[in-house]
Amino acid sequence: MLNDIESIKNLAQDEIARAGSLKDINDIKAKYLGRKGLLTGKFHSLGSVPREDRPRIGRILNEARNFIESLLRKQEDIFRASELDRSLRSRQIDVTVPGCFIPAGHLHPVTRVLDEISAIFVSLGFTIEEGPEVELDYYNFEALNFPRDHPARDMQDTFFISDDVVLRTHTSSVQVRVMEKNSPPLRVIAPGKVYRCDADVSHIPMFHQLEGFMVDRHIRFSDLKGVLELLIHRVFGRDTSLRFRPSFFPFTEPSAEIDISCVMCNGAGCHVCGGTGWIEILGAGMINPRVYEKAGYDPERYTGFAFGLGIERVAMLKYGIDDIRLFPENDKRFLEQF
Ligand code: PHE
Repeated sequence: MLNDIESIKNLAQDEIARAGSLKDINDIKAKYLGRKGLLTGKFHSLGSVPREDRPRIGRILNEARNFIESLLRKQEDIFRASELDRSLRSRQIDVTVPGCFIPAGHLHPVTRVLDEISAIFVSLGFTIEEGPEVELDYYNFEALNFPRDHPARDMQDTFFISDDVVLRTHTSSVQVRVMEKNSPPLRVIAPGKVYRCDADVSHIPMFHQLEGFMVDRHIRFSDLKGVLELLIHRVFGRDTSLRFRPSFFPFTEPSAEIDISCVMCNGAGCHVCGGTGWIEILGAGMINPRVYEKAGYDPERYTGFAFGLGIERVAMLKYGIDDIRLFPENDKRFLEQF
């Protein structure tokens, strides 16, 4: 019996030394210490050993089991450690590999300019209103003192949907819509798309305007000048001068067209300003009492100003773009420059 135990121990030790994997270790464990294991078998035959020898043989058996178990555990630890090492290595991150770049988009230059100008007016307490692009003739013309069949409608090359419905030719169409729903004081801007049947280097059939108007008691032309001066100085810098020229719009009286000193040549004269040193940028005026009548306001009580600004125009001057058609073309080579 003792010889058997000794040779089982040696066999197990040999096999453990030759084991190549965790699976081998488990197999060896089963072979020697499992329910039908070689050493386990010796425990079962302890009953046939003479009674007086049993404690001693039992102790030797226990020692043999502890010996094999500890060899197995040691080898198992070694395999586990190397396995962990291998899996960590295989998941190693190479921080020097260049990343993959996801190109980030950005806002269209027209949107940028619209947002910038809107923010200036919001900081002055103006609210933002919107109106429909498919508009009733009434709000686009009639309520703004363009009588039906009046030649002043020719100033704006209108897309007609039907006799009464047009694509709005200007954001001034929002004025009476807002006045009908609100009473003064009003400080409003209305940015958006407008449509005119026109196309060349400085005209596209769809472009953007920003309408602004202010209605209250005692609003004067000087308020208009102050607001526009602040706007132009914020957008183009404080060195930019403004020039008010008398003009005509049916819905303002008096009316003005406003030029700024050419931002390209500082007023010296260049191809952008046609050698004049000035660039037309806005239409404006004091709101015509006829408009208040249409809106149901008392024209004796209220005064106010309105202006309309072409956004593409501003963006062209700000970014030095010489062809307005680039804006709606969506050519990435153009858009990526902003
Ligand atoms: N709506 C005019 C245009 O598009 C501009 C304007 C707006 C003029 C407000 C006066 C007052 O030409």
